[in-house]
Parts: sequence; structure tokens; C-alpha cells
Amino acid sequence: MNTTFSLIKPSAMNHCEEILMAIKTGGFSILAMKSQHLTLSQVKKFYKEHAERSFFEPMCERLTLGPVLLMALYEHNGTDTPLRFRALLGATNPKDAAPGTLRQLFGVDLDFNAIHGSDSDISAIRELSFFFSGIETGLLFNDS
Ligand code: CMP
Repeated sequence: MNTTFSLIKPSAMNHCEEILMAIKTGGFSILAMKSQHLTLSQVKKFYKEHAERSFFEPMCERLTLGPVLLMALYEHNGTDTPLRFRALLGATNPKDAAPGTLRQLFGVDLDFNAIHGSDSDISAIRELSFFFSGIETGLLFNDS
């Protein structure tokens, strides 16, 4: 699949422009983008696969501390775009992220890792559909 979903977290919104430049330089284009202040209920649904983890509640609350930037990204003639975009992000924990990756540059630690990216094609379809309508992205995964 040549599309993926990404979200700049509230703690990194002050670096939005640099992150967008790096995404573009990394070979990804923006299909749709919007800023939103998410509710706790939205975030809990979005991260529901982590619901049983000890860090779930504080992680969700951190995502409601300010606006986020929601992005539908694509690569022209790309495949495995979710995985390729995760390579640009770097390791989930910025302390383990390779130099030059977005989380190494703009994240602090596991709690403040700057940016989220879908971890598979299936997650990307779910996450894109969660935040964007088919009209906004031009992607028709279902009836949205
Ligand atoms: P993200 O890529 O948005 O996906 C889930 C988030 O959970 C992850 O970024 C981290 O911010 C957070 N996370 C993952 N593992 C841990 C952990 N062990 N402790 C705290 N937060 C975590």
C-alpha cells in the first residue's frame, strides 16, 4: 500500500514546519492534513489496542493536551509505505532512535516521542479511516 497515517503529537507541534519539511524530503507527500484538538474519548478509541497496558491512561491524556496534526501521507509508486515511513520516524523510544530520524530529532522519551505512524497496512487503513473521510483523502477503503 502506498499510503499511511501519521499524527504529530501536542508536545511536538512547535516543530510542525520542520517535521513537514523532513517528511517531504523523505519522499512522502501529503494527501490530506488537518489540525484538531482531540477528546479523551477519541484518543482512547484510536489507541484501543493498548487499552490493557499500564501506560494507556497517561498516554491518552498526553494526546489531549493541545492540538495535533493529522496527516494522510502517500508515496508516488510506493509500496510498504507504512513501514518505510516508520523508518523515517525511528524507534518508538527516541532514546533508541537512529540519528537523523524524526523521533531522535524531535522526541524526548517514550512518553514524548513526537510523532505517530501506522505500523502496518491494516493499521494505516483503520487509522486513516478513523480520522479522515474518503472525500478528504480520495481513498475509498470502505463506505466512508
Ligand atoms: P505511538 O507510536 O504513538 O504508539 C503508541 C504509543 O505508546 C507510543 O507511540 C509511545 O508513546 C507509547 N508507548 C509505547 N510503549 C510504551 C511504554 N513502554 N511506556 C510508555 N509509553 C509507551
